[in-house]
Amino acid sequence: MTLDITGLKVSIGGKDVLRGVDLRLQEGRVHGLAGESGSGKTMTGLAVLGLLPHGSRTSGSVTLGGRELLTMAPRELNKIRGGEVAMVFQDPATSLHPMLTIGKQITEHMRHHLGLGKREARARAVELLGKVRIPGAEEACGRYPHQFSGGMRQRVAIAVALACSPKVLIADEPTTALDVTVQAGVLRLLRGLCDELGLAVLLVTHDLGVMSAVADEVSVMRDGLVVETGPRGRVLREPSHPYTRSLLDSLPDAQIEEGGR
Ligand SMILES: Nc1ncnc2c1ncn2[C@@H]1O[C@H](COP(=O)(O)OP(=O)(O)OP(=O)(O)O)[C@@H](O)[C@H]1O
Ligand SMILES: [Mg+2]
Repeated sequence: MTLDITGLKVSIGGKDVLRGVDLRLQEGRVHGLAGESGSGKTMTGLAVLGLLPHGSRTSGSVTLGGRELLTMAPRELNKIRGGEVAMVFQDPATSLHPMLTIGKQITEHMRHHLGLGKREARARAVELLGKVRIPGAEEACGRYPHQFSGGMRQRVAIAVALACSPKVLIADEPTTALDVTVQAGVLRLLRGLCDELGLAVLLVTHDLGVMSAVADEVSVMRDGLVVETGPRGRVLREPSHPYTRSLLDSLPDAQIEEGGR
């Protein structure tokens, strides 16, 4: 399913934080979104899900398989959020409830959105934890978020996001808090899930090195606008915007992998 963001503008308390963002996410493709801190990457993801802070004003268009999300009734949007479109938040603590077991968090989602019975939901939770490579998935279901390492928590957050078989996954800096080796694992996992499940993924990161390893398309934001977009190879090897060039110049060459995956 295709998610199209067209001319998306957001202002919060009178400040223009998005000034006309265009992005397209496609089935089975990872779209990398880079850009400096404060450029509007997180706000773009939150706008898609209708989760902007109070007092935000939004205009433009966000369509999922042709349906407009920006003007959708809250009830309907609620079904899409965590259903067809899921998000892994920048801070894994936001994605996971500290007082609920992992199993509960995954199954509640499925029972609410998919109407699955207790047993069925439980079996699927175990399967999902296996998919994100949590060892001993059966036992893991009974544990709380703080009983996992940072990398595992991040993968659990991905499992929670995948609980309702979304078509679109927005992953906001899913690896920032992790050390480099764990980071690579989570990214490979996202790439694999995208291929296997035909997910359309928006991978938000300010790290172009991370981007080069997994993204099919890359967009670069600056000051509330997408200043450059295109196939990863083109954007990273022949950036047309001076800002992208300066982002690339700040990276050691070795980080931009030829061919990527
Ligand atoms: N709750 C809020 N209320 C008002 N303005 C906000 C709020 N959250 C973010 N902003 C502003 O919106 C703009 C875009 O922020 P956003 O969080 O999307 O940046 P980002 O690209 O995700 O940055 P980072 O890489 O640091 O996560 C910034 O100018 C920020 O100050
Ligand atoms: Mg952010």
